[in-house]
Amino acid sequence: MTFYRQQYRAPDFLCQKIELEINLDKKSTLVRNRMYFYPNPNSTQRAEEIVLNGEDISLEALRVNGKIIKSFSLQNNELRIKSASKLFLDPFQIEILSRCHPEQNSSLKGLYVSNNLMVTQCEAEGFRKITFSIDRPDIMSVFTVKLIALKKDYPILLSNGNLIEEENLANKMHSATWHDPFPKPSYLFALVAGNLACNEKEIICSNGEKKLLQVWADKGNIKKTTFCLDTLENAIHWDESRFGLKLDLDRFMIVAVDDFNMGAMENKGLNIFNSSAIYTDQNLSLDQDYVYTERIVGHEYFHNWTGNRVSCRDWFQLTLKEGLTVFRDQEFSSDRLSKQSGKDVRRINFVNSLRSSQFSEDAGPMAHPIRPDSYEAIDNFYTSTVYSKGAEVVRMIHTILGEDKFKHGMDLYFKRHDGCAVTCDDFVGAMQDASQIDLSQFMLWYSTPGTPILSIQENFDSKKNIYSLTLIQSNKLNHVSKKPDLHIPVKIKFISPNLKKPVCQNGISFNKEYILNITKKKTKIEFQQINVKPILSINRGFSAPIIIEYEQTQKDLLEQLAYEDDTFNTWDIIQRTYCLIILNKQKFGKKFLAILKKILLREDLDAGFRSTLFNLPAESFLAQKFDEYDPEALLKNIHFYKKQLAQLFELEWLKLFDAMNDGKKYDLTPDQINRRALKNKCLDMLLWCDIDQYEHLAIKQYFSADNMNDRWFALCPLVLQSSKNFEGVLDDFYHQYKNIDMLIDKWFSVQATQLPKGPDYIDQIKKLQAHPDFNIKNPNRANSLLSSFSYINTFAFHNLNGSGYQFWAKSVLTLDKINPQGASFLAKRGLDSGHWDKLHKQCFYNHIDELFKNKNMSKNLLEIVRLIQNIKRKNSL
Ligand code: PHE
Ligand code: ZN
Repeated sequence: MTFYRQQYRAPDFLCQKIELEINLDKKSTLVRNRMYFYPNPNSTQRAEEIVLNGEDISLEALRVNGKIIKSFSLQNNELRIKSASKLFLDPFQIEILSRCHPEQNSSLKGLYVSNNLMVTQCEAEGFRKITFSIDRPDIMSVFTVKLIALKKDYPILLSNGNLIEEENLANKMHSATWHDPFPKPSYLFALVAGNLACNEKEIICSNGEKKLLQVWADKGNIKKTTFCLDTLENAIHWDESRFGLKLDLDRFMIVAVDDFNMGAMENKGLNIFNSSAIYTDQNLSLDQDYVYTERIVGHEYFHNWTGNRVSCRDWFQLTLKEGLTVFRDQEFSSDRLSKQSGKDVRRINFVNSLRSSQFSEDAGPMAHPIRPDSYEAIDNFYTSTVYSKGAEVVRMIHTILGEDKFKHGMDLYFKRHDGCAVTCDDFVGAMQDASQIDLSQFMLWYSTPGTPILSIQENFDSKKNIYSLTLIQSNKLNHVSKKPDLHIPVKIKFISPNLKKPVCQNGISFNKEYILNITKKKTKIEFQQINVKPILSINRGFSAPIIIEYEQTQKDLLEQLAYEDDTFNTWDIIQRTYCLIILNKQKFGKKFLAILKKILLREDLDAGFRSTLFNLPAESFLAQKFDEYDPEALLKNIHFYKKQLAQLFELEWLKLFDAMNDGKKYDLTPDQINRRALKNKCLDMLLWCDIDQYEHLAIKQYFSADNMNDRWFALCPLVLQSSKNFEGVLDDFYHQYKNIDMLIDKWFSVQATQLPKGPDYIDQIKKLQAHPDFNIKNPNRANSLLSSFSYINTFAFHNLNGSGYQFWAKSVLTLDKINPQGASFLAKRGLDSGHWDKLHKQCFYNHIDELFKNKNMSKNLLEIVRLIQNIKRKNSL
């Protein structure tokens, strides 16, 4: 069944409050649910029946206004109750008794078991697996929840809001009753039951109020949650000071859970996290893991306002909460850094991942606007488009309005919509009204799929002294004439170092950054009395999520590089140069190398920045430059250039590797993190340069490092390139860390991405799959092998004997039986197939028949498989 955004209809009934009594038992949990409904005053129709959602649960009893009811039907996960006479015209109460079976539930949605815990996951449509309800986000109710369980096994019972009562009951049972004063949609409901330890602190907010912050985890891991707890406190203070948004509950809880499909979930007052997102310590975490933890802890907390207090009217509006909250977590993460250079590198990393994952989504069959028009399974739309491009769209509003007006917009948004479930139009409307800036054209970003292209033509007439710049916007997905043009805010600067007289024409000054608001298909800017062509610095800081098409040779790029003063653009020019060289199989130009070398050795520059400059463009980014490409050839080509770069600067890597190895004790200051990044870049390059000669450096670092970051980045290149002694190191790693799940995930993952050693490579993957520690039911473990292999191990996945494709298809189907959401994530790998060359395409479609023929898959997976079939058909294969 397809759902369409345009078909939204206000609900017939609203639900004022929900009272749940849950008898927790992992085999069979009994749920008593009392819902207080009333007819929706805004609904146009008078409903004759009420339809409740319920999935994989069994109905035991049903009462309306206290009376047992017989006139209902239960079909296709819908419980329809017919109105007896005028029953539904006034407020009415429905009470339902039903059962669910947590232990049998492997979908990680609804109520399920993870190790010794019972936990829930309700977004987007999981509440219906716990009890019958109108499971849609525009119905917000006040929840009171009584949890009952055996005290010995489940001493801790948590749910949303405030704990109002605890009781000891007969038969060694006990109960806890929670009340959440804030009305919320069912997708924000949560409970956790189990034997958990707590890491807590009390904080004082700016208005003097005391709040209790708690992180819950199993006893053995509780020590690893301190960074998380501190980050939560930082996030609370940040949201107060940047946006004036306060924590509205007396207590705020975070729980670590080992089996979780996503990173984390923002349930009101009870955030549930994939444990791998919050456990950190010196001997466990990479430096980048801390950045991730900081962002995600912030993200879930920030949802408390952007998502929970103001929620989404329907799931098509998902970016309303996700785009905005990603923007907020990015800002938080950046504001945590004091140096501008650190913030710049963070921006580069965000953009880099946007361009490799979201741009390719926009270029494939899953391309959708940040607010999609239709879906089969909403789970499939938790995409980088909705999240990351959504965040860029909010960032553009911030750029157009400026910080102050943006803040006023946020204030107005909450003033108007607090406690409501609203749409993206409401958000942009508040921004527009608060700023008095017309955003009607800007709104098109919400309905336009595909990455906009801005092509640049410069013209300099040295006789007439006229310089002109023409910018033309287009989008590969639109038939040029049909689609209206977007409002694109582009930060721009005309750089003219030898300017004699100041130039200022049409309100534009040379040598000064300003925001060019592009609103037409074609924009032309002209300057007169210009005797030297200025250098154009455009889309500075990546102010808009677009592709700049700018025909430049290596020479042009280098000239620009010499004058460029925007850090993002400096990085981007170097990336463009790499692209040009790799795609046209050119040589590294002498001048380019000289500049690179100079930058590499410049001690006044941020070491983190220097190290990112030597990352070649990702395969998935380069692939976007082709309609069709040979994946194996492309990666070989990238490797060829990486090896060259490694060899060309061999002495520099060696020198810097020593210099960055300052022997200081490990700490987490930005300066040390940067030094480690550069040091490990050098190490990687040295191993690429000559694995046999430099292997010993990595082995030494692996065994002597006092932290996981350095150990890991020593192990990786050894394994990836199958150095002579890599097996010993890998074994050591396994034996040291066999009890630490997160590290064993890494152990699987690095082997799944290892460069293949022979034609029977797939046997090696199968061997890993048969390893006693492999467990397809745990998403982190499943991903560590299956996703790593399918998404990262190009040579093995694309092997033209078809073994990789076949293995992938089989894995998708196996996983679908257990965890449909996980399966469809893995299945999305096949959506890229339209871009592969004939040979790979053909081989792919020939080996995944099993997937096409399967008649028994989840709707999540079916939506993706159909898309893959369409590509196949389009290619007439
Ligand atoms: N809403 C969560 C977040 O972005 C993501 C999520 C979606 C988690 C669906 C679980 C299920 O913070
Ligand atoms: Zn989110």
